[in-house]
Amino acid sequence: MIDKPIIAANWKMNLKKGDSTKLIDNLNNSCGEGANVIVLPPFTLLDSIKSKLGNNIALGAQNCYYKNYGAYTGEISPVQLIDIGCKYVIIGHSERRHIFGEDNKLLSKKLTAARKAGLIPIYCIGETLEERETGKKEMVLSMQINILREELMPFIVAYEPIWAIGTGKIADIKTIEQTHSFIRDKLSGQMADVPIIYGGSVKPENAYEIASCDRIDGALVGGASLNANQFIKIINIFKEVKTC
Ligand code: PGA
Repeated sequence: MIDKPIIAANWKMNLKKGDSTKLIDNLNNSCGEGANVIVLPPFTLLDSIKSKLGNNIALGAQNCYYKNYGAYTGEISPVQLIDIGCKYVIIGHSERRHIFGEDNKLLSKKLTAARKAGLIPIYCIGETLEERETGKKEMVLSMQINILREELMPFIVAYEPIWAIGTGKIADIKTIEQTHSFIRDKLSGQMADVPIIYGGSVKPENAYEIASCDRIDGALVGGASLNANQFIKIINIFKEVKTC
């Protein structure tokens, strides 16, 4: 069981230096304690954001390679992320899986390398609409979960139904609850208490319902995390619901 909700801001390939400074200033002023807030900017902003982040916000990256050094043009390594002050890294976001063709075999290597370097992976899993509609959801999720092992702890699992990402559509709360239970059951032994957060069009308007589900330990927020007011509202809703 987690003591505080985990609220992670996945900025994806958005923001330049100027906009990011304003956003971080607002977050620093309003984040406070009571939630584990993680900001995941693009690589180009990691260094400048690190120097501005307040104590209550942790830094993470959106991806990394599984080698630490070498001739891998365009890649960023786990030890380079540690060096710049990152604590977390997203591994296996659906955009990496589906746009860039990352499969479970590659993601397993990335998880191992990230943990070896000392990063905490936020490992994303989720099914496409087609997989859901053709009854393959549980098989797909199982295959994605099967690469997790106790030696990789600590890590966070983020369940993001792909059809709910950036679409404004949100899975109904019963389905989310059932899916989180399914994931929890698959994480046996020491992994039984791994935090499982939800992502996919999380907004202030639906955050209360999502936070109220006791199977959900937090949120991975994309679009709404680019707006300080919306993101702070989501954090506050989770804090309120999870601490009462
Ligand atoms: P979204 O993105 O909140 O814009 O749907 C979530 C994510 O992709 O992590």
